[in-house]
Amino acid sequence: MALVNTKEMLKKAYEGNYAIGAFNINNMEIIQGVVNAAKAQNSAVILQVSKSALNFAGPEYLTAMVNAAVETTGIDIALHLDHGPDFETAKRVIDCGFTSVMFDGSHYDYETNIEKTKEVVEYAHSKGVTVEAELGKLAGVEDEVNVSAENATYTDPDQAADFVTRTGVDSLAIAIGTSHGAYKFKGEAKLDFDRLANVTKKLEAAGFKNFPIVLHGASAVDKASVDLCNQYGGKIDGASGIPNDMLRKAASMAVCKINMDTDLRLGLTGAIRKYLFENPSSFDPRGYLGEGRTYLQNLVEGKIKNVLGSTNSMN
Ligand code: G3H
Ligand code: 13P
Ligand code: ZN
Repeated sequence: MALVNTKEMLKKAYEGNYAIGAFNINNMEIIQGVVNAAKAQNSAVILQVSKSALNFAGPEYLTAMVNAAVETTGIDIALHLDHGPDFETAKRVIDCGFTSVMFDGSHYDYETNIEKTKEVVEYAHSKGVTVEAELGKLAGVEDEVNVSAENATYTDPDQAADFVTRTGVDSLAIAIGTSHGAYKFKGEAKLDFDRLANVTKKLEAAGFKNFPIVLHGASAVDKASVDLCNQYGGKIDGASGIPNDMLRKAASMAVCKINMDTDLRLGLTGAIRKYLFENPSSFDPRGYLGEGRTYLQNLVEGKIKNVLGSTNSMN
């Protein structure tokens, strides 16, 4: 068994009207929580690594742990660079064993985004690595992915078809109303599904039938995890995410990869807070980290079964 790229898993997801979950990883317990869930659901999975996660753990550690996950679970796992900022970072992780990369040139002007994306595609494809790019801007307030709501612009369907034609990317992240982090909507949740359908229509007209679309900023911001954080000393007010029925609808359309990070952060933090509160004399990391890992496994299993629909995608 070896790591796989995302080509085949996203193709199957398109045909089966489901989506593969792409979960952000930073350490061993998160990796194990996610892959144990995928294994239990007999599902393929994408483990993705942001630039800050690369800085935190180092690509060598993460690659080695994910390779161990492939060996021990036997399921299809793609190791993916999330929001790759430049060619050098993409090349570094590809040379380290990543099987998929995102180049995020969404903050550049259109022609520069094309030019820089193409450079990554050329190198990645020569190594059998798949490439995701982004067109349109997500609103967001979290960490290194920081685009003010004022600048947020949705993806232009005509541009999407031209972009894919000219860059040769394998999948495309689009902006239809999602955003990163735990505070996605002030009022009612709303996604532009007409725009998603239109992107697909334009891609088909340009010769890209069944082209996989990616949804970033797709955490549901589960109430149970937020409540757990707040009940045990946290202070997370006014958080809101993408309702599960909207995620299911996206997955039944052209969205084949759905990104979730915030849900894992909230869940892990809530579970650890609870454990430490209930076990004030415990100082064994295996206690609270183990509790967090189990919580994540249950959480991700629920996502796979009830939201993404990728159960048994390994068959
Ligand atoms: O999309 C962004 C992810 O949530 C990564 O966040 O840069 O804090 O690792 P991070
Ligand atoms: P969330 O912040 O909604 O989990 O989105 C994560 C993401 O898009 C990672 O690329
Ligand atoms: Zn993202």
